[in-house]
Amino acid sequence: MSVELTGRIAIVTGAAQGIGAATARKLAERGAHVIGVDVQADALTQVAVEIGGKAMVHDITDAAGDQQLVDDVIQEFGKVDILANVAGGVLDAARGIEDLTLEDWHKVIALNMHAPLYLAKAVAPGMKAQRSGRIIAVGSGAGRSHSRTGVIPYAAGKAGLMGIIRQLAVELAPYGITCNVVSPGLILSERGRIDWESKSPERQAREMETVAIGRTGEPREIADVIAFIASDEASYIVGQTIMVDGGHWMF
Ligand SMILES: NC(=O)c1ccc[n+]([C@@H]2O[C@H](COP(=O)([O-])OP(=O)(O)OC[C@H]3O[C@@H](n4cnc5c(N)ncnc54)[C@H](O)[C@@H]3O)[C@@H](O)[C@H]2O)c1
Repeated sequence: MSVELTGRIAIVTGAAQGIGAATARKLAERGAHVIGVDVQADALTQVAVEIGGKAMVHDITDAAGDQQLVDDVIQEFGKVDILANVAGGVLDAARGIEDLTLEDWHKVIALNMHAPLYLAKAVAPGMKAQRSGRIIAVGSGAGRSHSRTGVIPYAAGKAGLMGIIRQLAVELAPYGITCNVVSPGLILSERGRIDWESKSPERQAREMETVAIGRTGEPREIADVIAFIASDEASYIVGQTIMVDGGHWMF
């Protein structure tokens, strides 16, 4: 299977570390020119230098800034072929309904649901004009069933994200633009590793009983699927949520 991406212009958010960095590396390895976006300037710059891409330090929850970012990319590179929105997470929000604050609610929804929408809105007109494009959002099992983190706005945000992507998929498919969600399971990214290692061996063993393949995943295993969805070979995959979770979804 070839996942050739030579000449493609790809925006990857959350590219400073974890699944986003792995995605930036993988897309670049396949020939895409990658514009990495993140709030962590130093780590992002390191990844961009390593892959010969561009670093744009930016908070993706800023809608006007997202439009500006896409305008700047189009100005410099002429187009956007691939939007891989990887940035997301629970942002240390409190677990459970009793401790939930409005501040947590808004900031977690803003990152996981609003920002991918703002970016999709910004890239859609150019993709429509060129009659091709790939909009890929990173979801979570939290959006399909529940979150092991117990963070309500995270589950809500990822569920909303799946709805947004399905709706965009229907609207944009006639223009040759595919929209899909890639949904990771337990992945040992920087963040994932901290969460995983904070759990007792007993808790880890219990969680592994709900992962058919019986192990945690690596960021590369998500990046590989994103690279495939970004390629021409995935041209007939539309509006899907692809669970890349070692079979956890069946439990
Ligand atoms: N690791 C897992 O087990 C797992 C499981 C399910 C879903 N996911 C999802 O995968 C994605 C990546 O997860 P990860 O584990 O690599 O996370 P991570 O926390 O290691 O990396 C997230 C990156 O996003 C960046 N970021 C955060 N807020 C941002 C903002 N407002 N603007 C720009 N950049 C921002 C961070 O600086 C960081 O570099 C997330 O959407 C997460 O919800 C991860």
